[in-house]
This record gives sequence, structure tokens and C-alpha cells, in this order.
Amino acid sequence: MYFIRTSCRCCGFAEVLTPPGIKAASSDEKLVKVFSLGLQPPANDFKKEDQEREGYAPLEVLFCPRCTLAQLSIVVRPDILYRTYAYTTSRSDTMLRHFDSLWDYIQTECHPVSLMEIGSNDGFFLQYAKAHGAEMVCGVDPSENLSQEARDGGVQTICGLFDKETAAMAHACVPSVDCIVARHVVGHVDDLRAFVKSLDLVANKNTLILIEVPWAKRLLERGEFDTVYFEHLSYITIKSMAALLENSPFRLHRIHEFSVHGGALGIMIRRRDHESAPHESVQTMMAQEDITADSWKEMAECSERSVEHLLSIVRSAVAKGKTVCGYGASAKCTVWMNACGFTRKEIKFVTDTTPFKQWCNVPGTDIPVVDPGALLREQPDYAIVFAWNYFVEIFGKERLYRENGGLLINPHQELSTQ
Ligand code: TMP
Repeated sequence: MYFIRTSCRCCGFAEVLTPPGIKAASSDEKLVKVFSLGLQPPANDFKKEDQEREGYAPLEVLFCPRCTLAQLSIVVRPDILYRTYAYTTSRSDTMLRHFDSLWDYIQTECHPVSLMEIGSNDGFFLQYAKAHGAEMVCGVDPSENLSQEARDGGVQTICGLFDKETAAMAHACVPSVDCIVARHVVGHVDDLRAFVKSLDLVANKNTLILIEVPWAKRLLERGEFDTVYFEHLSYITIKSMAALLENSPFRLHRIHEFSVHGGALGIMIRRRDHESAPHESVQTMMAQEDITADSWKEMAECSERSVEHLLSIVRSAVAKGKTVCGYGASAKCTVWMNACGFTRKEIKFVTDTTPFKQWCNVPGTDIPVVDPGALLREQPDYAIVFAWNYFVEIFGKERLYRENGGLLINPHQELSTQ
């Protein structure tokens, strides 16, 4: 199901460099174990009652003291995680607004006519790009079901992980690409150095590469432990990205922070020999990072308090005869449910707009995912918003539920603030 990783995928710390034919000695350098959520199921392994589950694996984070990258200690086989993938890019207003900001950000550097997206999901962003002037677009995505959905929606898509084969195919589709976008992908990639080499195959001298990643700094500050799951192999810092690019033909070019998904960086990358100088944001943003192994250990303690807090809210509600449901069967929901050990006895159901997830169980639990209409049909007393990154939007949308006496709870915040 998985294999073990002991060295840093950005800077190579703790790597054992062995001459051919000589048995590998172990390195004295060690990545530091900073966080563990015990055994967890793959967070998007949504299965119906009678379907076989993928299993459980240890979910723990190791920290690189050299480049500050935090990374999982194991890599679950990508075909298990991505072959049939339940996650589709949200059609929410929040996401559309984010696409607008991202598009404006790209325009500060170029006006792309040709665009490539790595991890193109169901093609939603490339459709947006087409509607905003891109004429040639090509996506690369490992999920068979989502690649087909993208093609059905008119977006040329190559099915596979981004490697030298799929890079060559994508290059043939858009030979002179203005902009390459990789949104929430880099954290999913095990061999990041090979990823950079594949970028080298598709990017020409002027290509702008835009990588969007959650910023580990915000995860740590806000205690967003529920964004730690098997798809997220790395918790990116600007310093670790700089370390990754150090011996490559690329350099950091410009960085902007977006509020989406609890705080994400838009990292622009250009070839070293590109005529424009790196933007001052690279240095100013990097200077804001002060992440150490202790920052992760403090976050680990905070996550224990958060889990206890949610457990106490739900237990006392159940003891008073109140009903509780979940709202949004996000991967974060799976992490919370398994960290808290919830069953259907405590959480009756979780509503979700994604048809693929409906009538499956939240991975690792017996809790069913149901259609969003169940919120008003059943009118549970509490709805825990596991899609908390859309909390403001959901709070507005579910006015009727609230007016009927329902309480929407952000699991990261105190009950009294709702
Ligand atoms: P995400 O945070 O990874 O985008 O996942 C959010 C999940 O929540 C996704 O499965 C869709 C679901 N969702 C709803 O059910 N209702 C909503 O209003 C929103 C915004 C999301």
C-alpha cells in the first residue's frame, strides 16, 4: 500500500549517496518526527457499505532542519489515491472569486494564449482560462474519471502523473506554452526533482510557471492539522521551494498569498536566464518565514486540544439528546472523524454536494454522506462545517437552517463565536 521516505524531497537532507555496487550505509542525518495522527485511511477513499476499502496507514510528519520542508514519512501508492478520485474542483462562489484573483495575478506577468495545467482535475480551471482568452489549453491529470470528465467538457487532457512521458505528450499539444499552472499539486508529488526536470521539458524561455500551494506557515499558525492527509506529501515553505530549485534551470520569480483553502501561495517561477529580475516579493515573503521543528510540535499540541474540544461539543450535544451532522465531506472531514473516532451514533450523516461521494461512507467510519437537502429535511441541531474554508459562504447560504434553530459550527473555532 505504501513505501517509506527518510530523506528530504526538496534539498536531499538525510539522503544516502552510495557509489554503484556498494551496500548503502544509513545516514547520520535524520528528518525530525514532529506530528502524528496515528493510523488513518486515505481521506478520499469514499466507498459504499459493501465495497472493499483500501486500508489504513501511519500518518506522520517529518521535518527537514535544513530547508524547513515538512513531509509525510510514507508515500501511499499514487494509483490507490488517484485512479478514481472523488475530489473535484469546487464550483463555489469562493473558488470562482479565487480564479478571478489568480487570473489577474497571471496578467501582471503575461497574457496567456496557450496554457498547460498540471493536475487539471475535471478541467474547470482550463475552461475558465478558455472563457478568458486562452486559445490552446492542455491538462495533465492522473485520474481516469476526471480526465474523461474534462474531455467531455471540451478540455484536451492527458491522463497520467506529470512525468517525462506525459510532459512530452503535453509539449506536443502546446509546443510553445505561455503559462503552466499547477494548483495544489506540488504537495502531492513524491519525486519533486523529477517533477522539476519534467517542467524543463515543457517550459520555453519565456514560459511563466505558476504553482499554487498551501503555505505551511498558515497551517502552523492556524492549527490546520486537518489538511495533513496522504495526498499531501509535503507542507511547502518558500525556503524549501528555493532549495528545490537550487540546482535547476529555474528560480523563484514572484510570490503572492491568497486566502483560499486556509492560506495559499501563488509562487511564480521563471527560467534563470529570463530577462526580468525576480520580484521583491520573493525576499519579503521568505523573510516572514520562521518555521522550525518546534513550530510543528506546537501545532501538534494545538491539534490535540482541537480534537478534544470537538469531542466535548459533540459528546455533550449527544448527552442532551441533540442531533449532530457534518457539512461537507472534505478530506479534512475524514481527518477530523478519524482523529475523533466518531461513528454514526454521534454524527448522523454528512451532507455533500459531490454526487460521487453521496451514499458512500466517510472513509474509516460508518457515517453516510448524503445529499445537501438532508440538512433542511432532517434539521439536525448542530452541523459541523468540515468544509470550513467555505464557512462564510455556507453561513450565508444556510440561513433557513439557522432560522429554524440549527447551529453551524466551524470545528476550528470556539462554539461561542458562531
Ligand atoms: P474542499 O475543501 O477540499 O474543497 O472540499 C469541500 C467539500 O465540501 C467538497 O466535497 C464539496 C463540499 N461542499 C458542500 O457540500 N457544500 C458547499 O456549500 C461547499 C462550498 C462545499
